[in-house]
This record gives sequence, structure tokens and C-alpha cells, in this order.
Amino acid sequence: MREPFCTGHPSDGAYAEHRAQTIPFVSDHAYTPLMSIAVPKPLAGVPHPIPYQGSKRQLAHYIVSLFPVGTKRLVEPFAGSAAVSLAAGHMKRVGHWTINDLHRPLMDLWTEIVRNPDEISDKYESLWKAQLGDERAYYDRVRDRFNAHHHPEDFLYLLARCVKAAVRYNTRGEFNNSPDNRRLGAVPDTMRRHIMGASALLKGKSSLLSVDYREVLGSAKPGDLVYMDPPYQGVVDTQNHRYRHGVSFDDFVAALDGLRRKGIAFIVSYDGRTGTKRYGRSLPASLGLTHVEIPAGRSTQATLLGRDDSTFESLYLSPEINVGEARILVRRLISLSTISDATMKPCLTLSN
Ligand SMILES: C[S@@+](CC[C@H](N)C(=O)[O-])C[C@H]1O[C@@H](n2cnc3c(N)ncnc32)[C@H](O)[C@@H]1O
Repeated sequence: MREPFCTGHPSDGAYAEHRAQTIPFVSDHAYTPLMSIAVPKPLAGVPHPIPYQGSKRQLAHYIVSLFPVGTKRLVEPFAGSAAVSLAAGHMKRVGHWTINDLHRPLMDLWTEIVRNPDEISDKYESLWKAQLGDERAYYDRVRDRFNAHHHPEDFLYLLARCVKAAVRYNTRGEFNNSPDNRRLGAVPDTMRRHIMGASALLKGKSSLLSVDYREVLGSAKPGDLVYMDPPYQGVVDTQNHRYRHGVSFDDFVAALDGLRRKGIAFIVSYDGRTGTKRYGRSLPASLGLTHVEIPAGRSTQATLLGRDDSTFESLYLSPEINVGEARILVRRLISLSTISDATMKPCLTLSN
């Protein structure tokens, strides 16, 4: 039986009507979100070898608990640090993975982590030890070498040491982020533990790809769960460089429409808001998804300014996903304007 919370969203019937159209109907009419009252926090013991700005590590436990029972394969077309894939393995919710990211050096690093964990751990250890006493200049030398040769171990070292673990390239496609001089990167033993843990979960059970997300979606089948965390809309629409070609809103909506037609379960992380300020466009209601907002604490800026604007992450769920089955408590908001701090008080934790 479908969850009562899901009524009021475009029903499957409404979607069937929409199916007749070849081009998805994009309406600006927003969903009325369901508010999660679970408090997301990282699950202890999940390996996380790649430091990555925008990682969904914090939310991964929550997202995985939404997977339909019996999901065979997790498809992650925008994998980044693959936080959701790793949590799904740790929670034993899937046994097979397709992990993809358009960023080729990142997927080369993933390939080494999954297939050759000892070798990449040894190489990281050598780099980490060699930097001691000359950290600043050493970082620059590794960065130059990475830009010339793209060795996975150099990329791992750069991510472990750079400011906010942010992947930044200049217009020539050269990695140009600076080191965070306050930290040396994960100590080799810790990094090895995370690498070995990730490999143990994924080796022999995952396809690792570096192609455009639409190609990956083309191979998804009913029985899979597709988790999508596309790049932040505000950034990708303006930035086009060698590794990030951006994801246009209309193309993305058309791709989701294609998954709906095939009855493939999916979860999308998209937009979000701080207080009543929304980032990026909401997905159109015509897709017939359930929108859940999850409290993610106060924004750094709000904290600095002494304001109490809470930040919310958005998830959009396809109708194959039953919120009630996931045992995550949500409640319906009447509209954004009714949100006050009093309604935000989280009062429940989620179960596995
Ligand atoms: C927000 S990050 C994903 C973060 C990830 N959920 C995690 O936990 O680390 C988005 C990722 O999409 C990748 N990307 C950007 N455009 C893409 C495309 N057209 N196809 C596939 N991946 C793409 C970027 O390289 C980036 O790693």
C-alpha cells in the first residue's frame, strides 16, 4: 500500500497522462515537501577513502534506508566520493554497483582503490612521508606532476591536502587548488584502513565507469536503484571545463522522465534551502516524485551572521520508493511560508 504522505503529489494516474507527451512538461509548480524529522549523521564504520567537497557522507545512511527492499544493484551516475555506495555496502542493502563519474582522474583513482588497494595505500604512504618537513613546496611539486601525468596516487594526496577537498581546475584543465596548510592529510594508516574497507565492499561486484550520466542511465533496469547527486546547479550552468560539462536542467528532467517511463526506482539529491531561500530550481511536479526535505543544521554563513537559518537538503523520490517502509518519519508542510524554527525541531532518529 502506498504511503499516505505521498497522496497530494501527482499520482501515478496523473503521471500516466503525462506519459503521452514526448517532451516532459516542465512546470514551475513546486511540490509541497515532506519534512524529515530524522537527524542525519554519518554511520560509524563506513570506509570513506576519498575526501571530497560535496560528499553525501552525512546523509548516506538516511538515503540508503530509503532503498526498496530487494534492490539488486545501486547505480550511481554522479558518484564523486561514492558515499552512498559505500554506506549501501556497509548496510548490506545491495550486492552490486555501477559507479560512474565524468571526472576521469577520479574514476582512475577509484579503480586503483577497488582493484589494487595495497598498491595505492603504499604509494599514498610514500607521498605522505616524503612531504614531512617540506609540506608546502612538496604539495606544489605533486600538483605539477599530477597535471602532467594524472597519477591516481598524486590525485589522492592532493585531495587529502587541498583546501576543503575541493576539485578545482583552471580553464586549461590544470588542478589549481591550494594546500590547506593546517593539515597534512589523513595519516597513512587511516587512509589504508579506508582504502582496504572500500575495496572489500566493492571488489568484484562493481563496474567503474567514466562517461556522461545519460549513458549510465541508459543501462539501468527495473530492480536497480539509481541514486543521483548532480553538481550544484548554480555552478555547473556557468562552468564548463575539461572534466565538468555541466548538467542542464532540461536534460536532467528528460532523463528522470525516461527512468519513470521504465519504472526504475531512483532518488535524487537536488537543490536545498537555507531558511526560506531556495538554491537552484525544484524538479517539476509533473514528474510525480515525492519531495522530502531533511534538516542539515545551520549554514556556516548564518552562524557567522548570528542568524538562525536552518539549512535543508532536498531528496526527490520516485514512486517505487515507499517512505513508510523506510521507517523514516516525515510530516507534510503546508507551504514554505509556514516554516518556523519551532517546526524544525528534529525529534526522531532513523532506523536501519
Ligand atoms: C555533487 S558531486 C557528487 C558527490 C557524491 N554524491 C559524493 O558523495 O561524493 C557531483 C559529481 O558529478 C560529476 N559530474 C558532473 N557532470 C557529470 C556528468 N555529465 N556525468 C557524470 N558525472 C558528472 C562531478 O565530477 C562530481 O563528482
